[in-house]
Amino acid sequence: MRAIRSYPIIGAVIAQVAAGVTVIAISAGLAGVLDAQSLFWLGLVVQSVAAALVTRLLGLPVWWVWICLCFPAALALALNAGELPAWPFGVGFVVLYLFFSNTARERVPLYLTNRLTTEALLSLVHQRGARRFIDLGSGLGGVVRALDGEGRHATGVESAPMVWLVSALLSKIQRRGEIVRQDIWSTDLSGEDIVYAFLSPEPMPQLFEKARREMKPGSLLVSNSFAVPGVEASEIWELADRRKTRLYLYEMHQAEAASAGDGAAAKAS
Ligand SMILES: C[S@@+](CC[C@H](N)C(=O)[O-])C[C@H]1O[C@@H](n2cnc3c(N)ncnc32)[C@H](O)[C@@H]1O
Repeated sequence: MRAIRSYPIIGAVIAQVAAGVTVIAISAGLAGVLDAQSLFWLGLVVQSVAAALVTRLLGLPVWWVWICLCFPAALALALNAGELPAWPFGVGFVVLYLFFSNTARERVPLYLTNRLTTEALLSLVHQRGARRFIDLGSGLGGVVRALDGEGRHATGVESAPMVWLVSALLSKIQRRGEIVRQDIWSTDLSGEDIVYAFLSPEPMPQLFEKARREMKPGSLLVSNSFAVPGVEASEIWELADRRKTRLYLYEMHQAEAASAGDGAAAKAS
């Protein structure tokens, strides 16, 4: 199960194989009863639904359930598109890579902070009188542009090429915030008052370790939706949006705290 959690693609393959075996069994039973076309459509539906169910049973994140549900239909479409030229698939792949390269590499997909959460972050920077704010993995840069100004410098760090380009252009045009093309792991956090991250459960222990090493006393690490395992947040803000967004606030003190993931719950320090 740990291998599946670390490499969800293994779970996805198991789900498709299990669904494929089910389809073969059903097709064998109905071979003389249904014509070939009906068998094909039934097989496609069973393959998709069974694969999605197995993915769910394996405990994979919900976006993998959707991928496994849609994959058989996409494959059938691609195999039946014999007259189509190959280049649109190549172009599609490159475009997807330019936008979503971090999904495979870092297990961090692209989804954006909503308006209510941005407003909560704005009230947080006001409350704390923050002068420097950084969004690690800034996506399209909406949070950075919303929080820059009033004497505050907001920076976004983004490594997906196309996402960086679009957000950097928007920031230049609106003259709000600064977006740098950089990896979050090589970003210096020592000068920041508030470090914001909306990533995934995967990098949280490593991110907390980095924050603990680099951030100054009195500064704040804020994680949207994903808590640091084994570390008690200084505060948790639950917002009144549809997804009941939680902001986990970790106040940085001196470097005396226990490290993240060492078993016992540690106070954020
Ligand atoms: C869930 S999105 C959040 C976007 C933005 N912070 C927001 O809240 O609207 C996460 C972003 O982090 C970026 N990302 C993931 N790993 C990264 C890394 N190692 N270095 C820089 N950016 C990264 C992804 O490309 C993606 O745009």
